[in-house]
Amino acid sequence: MARKKFIAGNWKENGLLAEAKQLVQELIPLVKDITTADIAVCPPYLAIPAVHELIDGTNIQLGAQNAFSTEAKGALVQKGAYTGEVSPAMLKDAGCQWVILGHSERRQYFGETDEKVNVKVRACYEAGVKPIVCVGETLEERDGGKTASVVEKQIRGCLAGLPADRMAETVIAYEPVWAIGTGRTATPDQAQEVHAQIRGLLTELFGKDTAEAVRIQYGGSMKPDNAAELLAQPDIDGGLIGGASLKAGDFAAIIDAAK
Ligand code: 13P
Repeated sequence: MARKKFIAGNWKENGLLAEAKQLVQELIPLVKDITTADIAVCPPYLAIPAVHELIDGTNIQLGAQNAFSTEAKGALVQKGAYTGEVSPAMLKDAGCQWVILGHSERRQYFGETDEKVNVKVRACYEAGVKPIVCVGETLEERDGGKTASVVEKQIRGCLAGLPADRMAETVIAYEPVWAIGTGRTATPDQAQEVHAQIRGLLTELFGKDTAEAVRIQYGGSMKPDNAAELLAQPDIDGGLIGGASLKAGDFAAIIDAAK
């Protein structure tokens, strides 16, 4: 089965309202004729309503960068006394189709764990929002020869016990931490090796048909000049773009490379 490429922009903590609107207004005409890839932008929460309105009727989909849920009294929390948090159900209500979970910056700065991500994924399924689950090793782990074991632990933890019939709508993003925002991209071979490993794990956990349907994005300094060769790898099904998604022309060029 051919997997449609999926390019998503993670704006991170960037974009005052006026900037967010301008960015998306510049992007819309640049990508309007693209049918070969799915496209999404993930603005900061506060810009979501404005971006939602602007992309209505276009080929750009909407995502968020995080969501909160936990288990309480045997149920997945979608609302309640959790000051400062936003649930998958709220994101769905705001027009989001996607949510990034387990990004390395959330793991590093906000105590995100595989177990927490697992609960959030299930809450996303319940709410009807599709998760983009991020995994990836640090430089120290790569240099220590631990890449495969770190990624395996993250995949098994984040996806533990999930129903196979929901996995195909889940996206995995392999983002080596040492490549994020550093300008140091994984080589196509380095990325492909880990993507193939992830697909092997998905096969073991959910069966071959499901594993073949799941899209695995690469993230980490993906730019217009390296996107094509990364996206040409057999198990790289798209990109999760940070810095380059903040420039409409660069983001559009990456999307254009996903043919
Ligand atoms: P950069 O593209 O800025 O390296 O960020 C990648 C990323 O973290 C996307 O989630």
